Amino acid sequence: MLEKVKELIGDVQSFKTTSKEEIEVFRIKYLGSKGLLKELFNEFKTVDASLKKDLGQALNNLRNAASEKVQELNDSLESNTETKNFYGDLTRPSEPIELGSRHPISIVRNRIIEVFSKIGFTVSEGPEIEDDWHNFTALNLPEYHPARDMQDTFFIEKDPDLLLRTHTSSVQVRYMENNEPPIRTISPGRVFRNEDISARSHCIFHQVEGLYIDTDVSFADLKQTLLYFTKEMFGKSKIRLRPSYFPFTEPSAEVDIYWGLETEIDYKITKGTGWLEIMGCGMVDPNVLKNANIDPEKYTGYAFGMGIERIAMLLYQIPDIRMFYENDVRFLEQFKSVL
Ligand code: PHE
Repeated sequence: MLEKVKELIGDVQSFKTTSKEEIEVFRIKYLGSKGLLKELFNEFKTVDASLKKDLGQALNNLRNAASEKVQELNDSLESNTETKNFYGDLTRPSEPIELGSRHPISIVRNRIIEVFSKIGFTVSEGPEIEDDWHNFTALNLPEYHPARDMQDTFFIEKDPDLLLRTHTSSVQVRYMENNEPPIRTISPGRVFRNEDISARSHCIFHQVEGLYIDTDVSFADLKQTLLYFTKEMFGKSKIRLRPSYFPFTEPSAEVDIYWGLETEIDYKITKGTGWLEIMGCGMVDPNVLKNANIDPEKYTGYAFGMGIERIAMLLYQIPDIRMFYENDVRFLEQFKSVL
């Protein structure tokens, strides 16, 4: 009988299954109320006393082995079903991923950068919180200069003087201070002006300003660059330059492009003339070069600056500047671009 019990222990230990039903059959076979162990223990009562010690031990071993086996098989079954529930059906087709879209301001900014980088302009950036020197004084706008009023400013602190930059011309001052000519750079970025919010203007908007400094740079170079830009950007090559005033450029001009009068929105944004002002520009004032330690006797340069919102409104026929900042998904999801 001892041999038989030992054999059974071997059977129990090598038993394997992943089926719940088979585990139950196994349990009943060994541990059930009419199971093998019950039978064996009954038989045990009748054996000779001298055999009882070894046999009793073996029977206990068999019982323990059988209940451990049942426990072990049930445990592994449970952890299997747990992982299955966690991952679900791995062969199921996946949920479609909703792609976001780029903000129209980013699309237009990237496009402007692309157009200018084709003719060798690099991109430069600077801080949105500026000091008076970089935003005004170095740009030929000393304290009390009346032209400071052209750009209503959010001042932060008097000492040290800090303000929110009103244009990215401040980045160009920084660039000139840190780089030798020839300089060819554009500065895209966010700017701030203390203005009432309306359909046409906002207190936060975006600009791209450009700067080109080298020996013998002339107004003709500026004009050619502007023509190239309007052609690439809008597919339109009719522009006009109107004399204007900026403290940091001399002479200065405002650039209009002929947009046409095809749609109702064209009428609205060009006020019925077909012409639209898109940027300011001019030859860098010698004082500005001097302030940035560039010799105005040796170098000349041109600069220009445009608002990204305005161009995006034109390109996408957006009637109200406030739509850019409302984060309305119905508005934003209309813009898809690889740029
Ligand atoms: N900085 C000017 C503005 O914000 C734009 C400008 C840049 C005009 C460079 C002329 C030359 O209005």
